[in-house]
Amino acid sequence: MKPENVVLSEDGKSVVIIDQTRLPLHTEYLALSQPEEFYDAIHELKVRGAPAIGICAGMGLYVAAEHFGEHNEEKFLSELHNVSAFLNSSRPTAVNLKHALDRVENAAHSMRGKGTDAMLGEMRRECIAVQEEDIAMCKAISEYGLTLVKNGYGILTHCNAGPLATSCYGTGLGTLLLGKERGYTFRAYVDETRPLLQGARLTAYELDKAGIDVTLICDNMASIVMKQGKVNACFVGCDRVAANGDTANKIGTSGVAVLAKHYGIPFYVFCPSTTIDFNCRTGEDIQIEERDPGEIKTKFFREPVAPENVKCFNPAFDVTDSSLITAIITEKGICTAPYTQSLRICMKE
Ligand code: MRU
Repeated sequence: MKPENVVLSEDGKSVVIIDQTRLPLHTEYLALSQPEEFYDAIHELKVRGAPAIGICAGMGLYVAAEHFGEHNEEKFLSELHNVSAFLNSSRPTAVNLKHALDRVENAAHSMRGKGTDAMLGEMRRECIAVQEEDIAMCKAISEYGLTLVKNGYGILTHCNAGPLATSCYGTGLGTLLLGKERGYTFRAYVDETRPLLQGARLTAYELDKAGIDVTLICDNMASIVMKQGKVNACFVGCDRVAANGDTANKIGTSGVAVLAKHYGIPFYVFCPSTTIDFNCRTGEDIQIEERDPGEIKTKFFREPVAPENVKCFNPAFDVTDSSLITAIITEKGICTAPYTQSLRICMKE
């Protein structure tokens, strides 16, 4: 299976992405080659989802370097570092962005003394490796996910953690998509995910396209479907996991976790191990992105839905306390509390 959302061109001069802001009605492709274009694509969520922005930024750094036309190694590395820092500033919460950028920048450093062509060759190899590893991790995560479900389960999702947000299968949606291939039948309850509607526009689209039974709900309907017994488990992806298991994911995720606890429904977080950040001791250390109030008041509406002068608070993510999380599933296995121990053990395996 080959990813379609982020594709490096053969000549290394561009990266072609699906513009996720146009889905589900329009499948449009954008070719990116300049650092500003990569920054804009990530910042405006044309490419989004923690692993996908890492993959795109890593490729973007390599593609930008292909355009440097610089043969002096030190000047090349200095320019590379500036572009890497610029791309890393496009979104603050997902750790995968920095992780991928560092890998590709380090690949260039590993060729010091061998010339800039060797540096470019190693960067190309590395950014492709980031994507290939993500494909393998998503498949492994989905296999573990299948051990947590039964045929016929109702699964509630929040935001989008499918193939568009990763490479193939996804993290939070991987179990549903792999299960479908294996003959499982699931009922997905998809939170629309205000304000940018990743659930309605992307998750409903991906699951429906795969032939999975999808019911779209507004975010404030999660409680009623849980109370009515329709939900057997909640599945979400994440952008950064702190060492103690506190988890940053799309705004509203922590509310779903609180509800799940109230109704005695397991709440599972899915992510590649690269999303765990041991530099963050707890969720308090995770930087939460704040976005334009226009996303709440005007975007997607023909006319503004609130008085113009009214203040808005628009955090893009929130942190779910680890005490609300039943398990964190990575490609290395299923971690349960106490996470301070289980995440470290899992990383060593
Ligand atoms: O703002 P977004 O759409 O990039 O937020 C994405 C999420 O919150 C996803 O759940 C997360 O990145 C995991 S994607 C596998």
